[in-house]
Amino acid sequence: MIPNLNIVPFVSVDHMMKLVLTIGVERFLIELAGYIEDDFRRWELFDKTPRVASHSAEDVIELMPTSDGEVYGFKYVNGHPKNMREGRQTVTAFDMLADVHNGYPVLLSEMTILTALRTAAMSALAAKHLAPAGSRCMALIGNGAQAEFQALAFKALLGVDRLRLYDIDRSATEKCIRNLAGLGFDMVACTTAQEVVEGAEIITTVTADKQYATILTDNMVGAGVHINAVGGDCPGKTELHRDILLRSDIFVEYPPQTRIEGEIQQLAPDHQVTELWQVITGAVKGRRDAGQVTLFDSVGFAIEDFSALRYVRDQLISTGLCQELDMLADPDEPRDLFGMLLRAAQ
Ligand SMILES: NC(=O)c1ccc[n+]([C@@H]2O[C@H](COP(=O)([O-])OP(=O)(O)OC[C@H]3O[C@@H](n4cnc5c(N)ncnc54)[C@H](O)[C@@H]3O)[C@@H](O)[C@H]2O)c1
Repeated sequence: MIPNLNIVPFVSVDHMMKLVLTIGVERFLIELAGYIEDDFRRWELFDKTPRVASHSAEDVIELMPTSDGEVYGFKYVNGHPKNMREGRQTVTAFDMLADVHNGYPVLLSEMTILTALRTAAMSALAAKHLAPAGSRCMALIGNGAQAEFQALAFKALLGVDRLRLYDIDRSATEKCIRNLAGLGFDMVACTTAQEVVEGAEIITTVTADKQYATILTDNMVGAGVHINAVGGDCPGKTELHRDILLRSDIFVEYPPQTRIEGEIQQLAPDHQVTELWQVITGAVKGRRDAGQVTLFDSVGFAIEDFSALRYVRDQLISTGLCQELDMLADPDEPRDLFGMLLRAAQ
């Protein structure tokens, strides 16, 4: 007999925070990157589709599905840059995993915190393959909700311990420096984008604005730098000047989605890009030489969320950090759904 078919484990924001703190942020990021790496190695067996986006003038709501043939997952996520001014998150999300063989959900989870963790883990994983060996100094442009996660992932996976920070809103940089104090970084607050990139081996752009922005211009990017471009992830929402793209080797998650949403929406549809999974499997070389400018044109792909939830699900066995959600109707006799409703009145 299968017990409690009505119950789906649910990871609330409170449980997610407890889980991350129990495991430790840096260990969580390293282990999560390991799950993403494993799934990128079996990339070909996944169901893949560009995410389904519903655009409004300045904002977007997206659904991101995938399946490995055994487990199906999808994420609901928004992108509302103006939210911050009203006390809301720019990005918020929830996610679900289901059993492909019976269609029953097996996990429901908050995904706002987990998205920040998975995005940072993905960025650092890409940089592990693309950034100059021994990189220690990163420029972090955009010091909002994602920023500290990015910093810690680069520290945990690459050993980055020098941060140069810049945001158009000085209070965001101050918040970031406050939150990261005592966590092993030497930090410098900068007042311009020009200043922040000085001496950085890695440049992370993680700003939010739904427009063709130019956070970086070509003259700001020296030879050999790795760019981790995170904030350009929607049609009409980019961060880099086109000239940077033209002299970079560009690495992407899933080209059909990135060509719509990434920095490369500024380029011809057949511009050469490399799929990151091929670098991770070793089929294609990442960084070839010290002078090459590498660019990870990150938009966030469904498989990364799938990996993150797979990781969280595996941690629930030992931690029990979830609650039971009465989510699925489970009549005694499968066809007697209405009878179950009638009996509930008694
Ligand atoms: N690629 C991915 O997988 C992925 C995942 C999550 C979020 N994102 C994107 O990352 C971006 C940041 O997300 P967030 O949750 O941190 O947003 P946020 O609103 O919390 O922070 C964004 C910060 O960027 C700053 N900013 C805006 N324009 C700037 C400019 N021209 N120069 C310097 N700073 C500037 C803002 O002042 C703000 O502090 C968003 O665009 C979001 O859509 C991408």
